[in-house]
Amino acid sequence: MTSLHVIVSIVLVIAVAACDLPGRPTQAERRVRPDRVLDGAALFESHCRGCHGEPGRLAPVRDLGDPVFLAVIGEGELRRVVSDGVAGTPMPVFSSAGGGPLTEAQIAALADSIFARWATPKAFESVTLPPYSEADARRAGAQPGDSERGLAVWKDYCAECHGPTGEGGGGALRLDQGSFLALTSDQGLRSIVIAGRPELGMPSWREHEGKPPLTVQQISDVVAWLASLRRPFPGRPHSSGDLAAGAP
Ligand code: HEC
Ligand code: HEC
Repeated sequence: MTSLHVIVSIVLVIAVAACDLPGRPTQAERRVRPDRVLDGAALFESHCRGCHGEPGRLAPVRDLGDPVFLAVIGEGELRRVVSDGVAGTPMPVFSSAGGGPLTEAQIAALADSIFARWATPKAFESVTLPPYSEADARRAGAQPGDSERGLAVWKDYCAECHGPTGEGGGGALRLDQGSFLALTSDQGLRSIVIAGRPELGMPSWREHEGKPPLTVQQISDVVAWLASLRRPFPGRPHSSGDLAAGAP
């Protein structure tokens, strides 16, 4: 090859590399590897929306855009729940370390995006929030939940809508039917008692008309009472104890 040939070849190679060949995807069009997606809103869309729905909309499971719920759970605890899932319920494990689809960085991006879009921390600056978990309640000095005391709380705060023993009334859910309790963990029940389900008409701990907000102890007690209504189901592989213990 003459030196002219070499120069011409080099120029050609550079020219081909520099121009966008037809059909070649641009940077924006290239498929991002699923574990490299760090857009929290996109992650919510692909991994959470199917069960939790969109803020304010009716969905099978709790609305993750509810600011009361977000204030109570806090970002650290939300990340933990997303990583580990909730044993004995349909809430999956998401951390790749636990066999799930998301890396730690993705779970952080997702949690950041949920809080950035929907949390309203200013609105809760002067509100004493009940502890998210029973363990936190115990650390704050509450006694373990007691189902007998819980029944008294139920009669006082819940019976007018749900009936004296959970058998329904006023159009609200029948809690004695079993499937709901069988699919919901004790923490799930606790979160409902604290944050309510505004999109369903279920009041939060401080919205019981004409009554003071539920105390930390009353919350633990009424959850213990609800949990005591669980019955083992034929064909269901887990006994009710699994949910309370958080066993797989
Ligand atoms: C297959 C359905 C399903 C998917 C998908 C799902 N969840 Fe859940 N999630 C649930 C269920 C059911 C519960 C309630 C579990 C219980 O009873 O404690 C739950 C509970 C939670 C809780 C705790 C709620 C509480 O009551 O304290 C958080 C936080 C949560 N999910 C976040 C997410 C996020 C974020 C995603 C997306 C990465 C997601 N979930 C995807 C079904 C799902
Ligand atoms: C003002 C009426 C009202 C009061 C008072 C009330 N609830 Fe509810 N609750 C509702 C409604 C409405 C729903 C949604 C009904 C449905 O899904 O069919 C609901 C749903 C629930 C659910 C199921 C939520 C879900 O995710 O499907 C639980 C658990 C519950 N309530 C517990 C309680 C407890 C415990 C109390 C007392 C501390 C209480 N409720 C007080 C109206 C009320």
